[in-house]
Amino acid sequence: MSNDNSYLQDLVHLSSARTETRIKMNSKGVYVLAVLLMVTITCVYFSDSLSKYILYASRAEDDHWFAQRFDKSVQPFLTEKNNVSKDAFDWWKQLQQLEKQSFDYYQRVVGSLLKTFPAISKGAERCRTCAVVGNSANLKDSHYGQLIDSHDVVIRMNMGPIKGYKEDVGAKTTHRLMYPESATDLDNMTHLVLTPFKIMDMVWLQKALTTGFQGKTYEPVRSTIQANKNLVRVLNPGFIAYVHQTWLRKQRGYPSAGILAVILALHMCEEVHVFGYGADNNGNWSHYWEKLKNPKLGTGLHYGNEEYDLIQMLAQHKKINFFKKPFPKS
Ligand code: C5P
Repeated sequence: MSNDNSYLQDLVHLSSARTETRIKMNSKGVYVLAVLLMVTITCVYFSDSLSKYILYASRAEDDHWFAQRFDKSVQPFLTEKNNVSKDAFDWWKQLQQLEKQSFDYYQRVVGSLLKTFPAISKGAERCRTCAVVGNSANLKDSHYGQLIDSHDVVIRMNMGPIKGYKEDVGAKTTHRLMYPESATDLDNMTHLVLTPFKIMDMVWLQKALTTGFQGKTYEPVRSTIQANKNLVRVLNPGFIAYVHQTWLRKQRGYPSAGILAVILALHMCEEVHVFGYGADNNGNWSHYWEKLKNPKLGTGLHYGNEEYDLIQMLAQHKKINFFKKPFPKS
């Protein structure tokens, strides 16, 4: 009987010891689970900034070719703080040989522009993903529209229309680069980004959005333009000089709106996707919305081949995604 009792006691003891172990193991398991849960929540919460960091970190430090060109300190947009240096101004001023005004005059024009549109000073906002849409006729039948619209920021330029071309070029525009000779009306949600190639372009912008611009540049230009005054930005002439000297490494000519848009996007966005670049089979910058009128159009005053090569290099170095369709046969 006493044996039975001690056996029973042993059994109870053993079972409570097992329960204790199980409880201990269970609480260990709960602890591990809680930690795992916390890690998961933290990862999900920070994944956006984490992926941004990874993309951003891969931008320069690990790539000699890119590091030699990409200068993080360059501010693409004109603000009160970052006016152009005298050297860059002198280079910029001779671009169209129309400009006879002095540096003092330039600074007065900029001062007046910033006063009329204080929003210019906000500079560049940062963005996650960006689509840059050039005006190449290779966008015809590309069906890129939906993909283009899926990006946070969509940069277009000059007269590139969206109405009637949604399937191939998308319908969203957050930024449009333009100069007086290529100006179009904008809706209330789109940033007007002036790419100034002369001081007169800044004078034009100020007047075209207020009292109206009278006169012409090297050709007749629009006297007024529709755009949200709070979303006006102006490319810093110093940024244009930087793209010319550091990215294109050229003595003559100057960067096109298209290559300026690509480098601007690199400075604003973590991920850059490029569409609609590439001359036609005869070397002309023909457009997706019109039949080529001038068979000797070429690429204007710009280094079309070099700009295209630069875009390809950026893609090879995985700094941008370059979407290119074969050029449609005409
Ligand atoms: O003709 P436009 O200057 O409006 O085109 C905007 C930009 O699109 C150009 O500056 C150029 O970079 C790009 N483009 C191109 N191939 C074309 C037409 C335009 O790469 N066939």
